[in-house]
Amino acid sequence: MWRSDLRSAFLAKLPTGGRIADIGCGAGADTSFFAAAGLSVLALDKCERAIGQIPHQPNVTAVCAELETFDFELCAFSGIWACAVLCFLPRDRFEVSFDRLWLSLRRPGVLAITMPMVDSARLVGPKRLLGITECQMREFLERHRPSSVQVSVYWSQRHLSRLRWFIAMVEK
Ligand SMILES: C[S@@+](CC[C@H](N)C(=O)[O-])C[C@H]1O[C@@H](n2cnc3c(N)ncnc32)[C@H](O)[C@@H]1O
Repeated sequence: MWRSDLRSAFLAKLPTGGRIADIGCGAGADTSFFAAAGLSVLALDKCERAIGQIPHQPNVTAVCAELETFDFELCAFSGIWACAVLCFLPRDRFEVSFDRLWLSLRRPGVLAITMPMVDSARLVGPKRLLGITECQMREFLERHRPSSVQVSVYWSQRHLSRLRWFIAMVEK
C-alpha cells in the first residue's frame, strides 16, 4: 500500500465539511495533499523546523506543539490523520494521548492512525518506536466504541528498516 492509497482511503471515509488535523505532520506532505483537496487543516508537530517547512496555504494552520499538551477543542475535527506519530510516545502516554484525539473528533468522523506492527517497544534504527499487535490495537479501539474499525497492513516504503505497519481507520 502506498501513501497515496492511505490518503485516498482516508478521504473516502471522511464526512463532508469540517476541518481535519494532521498530527505529527512533519514537513507537511500529507497536510499539503489534504489542503489541495480543499480541506481545512490544522497541522501540528512538536518540531519547529518541520513546521517551518510547511508551504504556506490559506486553508492550513500550522502549530508547533506536543500532542500530549496541545489544547484540542472537543469535537473540532471531522477527520484526524495521525501517521507515524503515536509510535513515538512512551507506552504509558499512548492511551491518554489517543483519548485526547478521540475527544476532539466529531461524530461522524474518522481517525486514521499508523503504527508499527510488532509485539512491544523495540529498537528501530536510532529511534525507539512503540509497536502494537493488530489484536491489541483492535481490543484497544473497541473500548472506544467506534462505529467501525478497518485495519490494513502494509510495508513501510520510507523507513530505514523494513517494518510492517498497519493503518487503522476508526470511524466514530
Ligand atoms: C516519522 S515522522 C512522521 C511525519 C508524517 N506524519 C509522515 O507520516 O510522513 C514523526 C513526526 O511526529 C512528530 N512528533 C513526534 N512526537 C510528537 C508529539 N508528541 N507531538 C507532536 N509531534 C510529534 C515528529 O516531530 C515528526 O515530525
